[in-house]
Amino acid sequence: MDKMHWILFLHILMGQCCFFTCRLYEYHFIAENKSWYEAQRYCREKYTDLAKVFDMTDMSRLRNSTQNQGEAWIGLNNNTGGNRMWHWSLPGVEYIQNDSSWNLSGRAYWEYPGNCVRKRDKLADVSCNTMTWFICYDEMKKDNKTLYLITTPMNWTQAQTYCRYNHTDLASGLDQVDGEEMKALFAGRVMSVWIGLFRDSWRWSDGSDFSFRYWDMQLFNDEQSNKTCAMTLLNRSGKWSSDECDKEKPFFCYDDKVILVKENKTWEEALYYCRDKYLDLVSITNLEDQQWVQEKAKNASTPFVWLGLRYTCTLGFWFWVTDEVVEYKNWDSDGTTDGCDMSAAMESGEKHKWFNKLDNNLFNFFCYKN
Ligand SMILES: *[C@@H]1O[C@H](CO)[C@@H](O)[C@H](O)[C@H]1NC(C)=O
Ligand SMILES: *[C@@H]1O[C@H](CO)[C@@H](O)[C@H](O)[C@H]1NC(C)=O
Ligand SMILES: *[C@@H]1O[C@H](CO)[C@@H](O)[C@H](O)[C@H]1NC(C)=O
Ligand SMILES: *[C@@H]1O[C@H](CO)[C@@H](O)[C@H](O)[C@H]1NC(C)=O
Ligand SMILES: *[C@@H]1O[C@H](CO)[C@@H](O)[C@H](O)[C@H]1NC(C)=O
Ligand SMILES: *[C@@H]1O[C@H](CO)[C@@H](O)[C@H](O)[C@H]1NC(C)=O
Ligand SMILES: *[C@@H]1O[C@H](CO)[C@@H](O)[C@H](O)[C@H]1NC(C)=O
Ligand SMILES: *[C@@H]1O[C@H](CO)[C@@H](O)[C@H](O)[C@H]1NC(C)=O
Ligand SMILES: *[C@@H]1O[C@H](CO)[C@@H](O)[C@H](O)[C@H]1NC(C)=O
Ligand SMILES: *[C@@H]1O[C@H](CO)[C@@H](O)[C@H](O)[C@H]1NC(C)=O
Ligand SMILES: *[C@@H]1O[C@H](CO)[C@@H](O)[C@H](O)[C@H]1NC(C)=O
Ligand SMILES: *[C@@H]1O[C@H](CO)[C@@H](O)[C@H](O)[C@H]1NC(C)=O
Repeated sequence: MDKMHWILFLHILMGQCCFFTCRLYEYHFIAENKSWYEAQRYCREKYTDLAKVFDMTDMSRLRNSTQNQGEAWIGLNNNTGGNRMWHWSLPGVEYIQNDSSWNLSGRAYWEYPGNCVRKRDKLADVSCNTMTWFICYDEMKKDNKTLYLITTPMNWTQAQTYCRYNHTDLASGLDQVDGEEMKALFAGRVMSVWIGLFRDSWRWSDGSDFSFRYWDMQLFNDEQSNKTCAMTLLNRSGKWSSDECDKEKPFFCYDDKVILVKENKTWEEALYYCRDKYLDLVSITNLEDQQWVQEKAKNASTPFVWLGLRYTCTLGFWFWVTDEVVEYKNWDSDGTTDGCDMSAAMESGEKHKWFNKLDNNLFNFFCYKN
């Protein structure tokens, strides 16, 4: 029995070594002048789609992928008929409507309607130009503290810039916004503060709902305009502005390195399938990877999706089949009891947490591809 496990373990580690080569997606700069829609067609043919951007790290990778200093299309456009959607400012936090957090009768008489959200007791949507205090979130958790009240009045965009520079971001997600630490910050006071919630009608070309925006507020004006396609200005730190979609510019594509295989297989079958047809089962080693992969999990036909994370009974630890270090974790709080013949699977819905599951379950799975 033990010998069998040991052999399987060695066998699994003899797969592809992905350590530096397996990345979840790559950017490609295309130095040809095309309209936004032509560019979109080109990217979908040759790669995956026009580039989408998850956070500042992505922005840095995008800029680093070219020497060009001009303007270039990215995969964001406003051709949505004005259908606005809410987004949290902190990358990776998904917006889920919960009426009990809002005051649906809304604003006070002195507040103007708008696309940014302030919290008093409850939330209300007000003009982003409003100057008010705000709450930053800090992931460093110094002295267990994650939320900081800043008592310098700023508009929403300035407040976001402040928080991203000095902390992590504006407070984002109902756990932060309605949680105990926030209640303690308010301490019974009546005050109005910005939180990291905004809405817009911009959408990514591939339909994903990444909330990251990097508008150059000196050039960009999200109002009545026929400039409905987004570009990055490489000579202005890559900040974004908008232009008419039929203007011809160079552009960025992205190439997806992860594929969701919608076949039902045991964990071992999935492993050999990936190694045979693609590269390997996928590893998730940071929040950004988690977000990238969880977008795809929504499309699975099974309630869970296999990852390349496996428990070795013989040695008593979890390991990625691609040999990466198990540092980042996203276990469900009930999902971590170790056990023989167990591997990790991501929930297709809900919060996309990881659960340990017996290997003989039949699930869809993620492979790395070339
Ligand atoms: C794209 O257009 C710009 C401005 O019209 C021009 O300077 C550049 O040479 C063109 N690039 C290519 C590859 O045609
Ligand atoms: C982009 O290049 C700069 C300068 O070479 C470097 O400091 C930075 O780490 C690079 N960013 C990424 C995400 O690789
Ligand atoms: C950036 O490039 C654009 C043309 O693509 C030019 O109009 C603008 O002046 C440049 N800005 C800076 C700060 O160099
Ligand atoms: C909405 O928020 C309330 C209070 O924070 C919570 O009790 C409730 O479970 C939430 N509802 C949903 C659907 O998340
Ligand atoms: C909702 O907002 C209105 C207008 O500001 C206010 O009169 C009312 O007390 C608020 N209700 C709650 C439950 O906070
Ligand atoms: C916020 O203030 C800055 C600086 O005063 C300004 O450039 C920007 O347009 C304002 N943004 C909004 C959304 O009000
Ligand atoms: C930090 O907060 C957690 C949960 O709120 C608590 O269990 C822990 O004791 C706190 N640690 C310190 C050093 O205050
Ligand atoms: C960071 O905080 C300092 C001190 O509060 C402030 O002066 C500065 O403007 C902040 N940085 C940004 C980018 O807002
Ligand atoms: C985006 O589209 C909506 C609805 O058509 C419009 O209200 C908004 O002003 C547009 N923004 C830009 C920058 O074109
Ligand atoms: C967009 O608006 C500008 C100024 O109003 C106008 O000159 C231009 O022709 C318009 N472009 C399109 C494609 O409608
Ligand atoms: C989900 O599947 C549909 C149909 O196969 C496809 O059009 C869509 O792009 C997929 N979404 C994601 C996020 O992969
Ligand atoms: C995989 O299993 C799910 C139920 O878990 C089922 O709905 C789906 O049709 C199955 N797919 C295939 C390709 O057998």
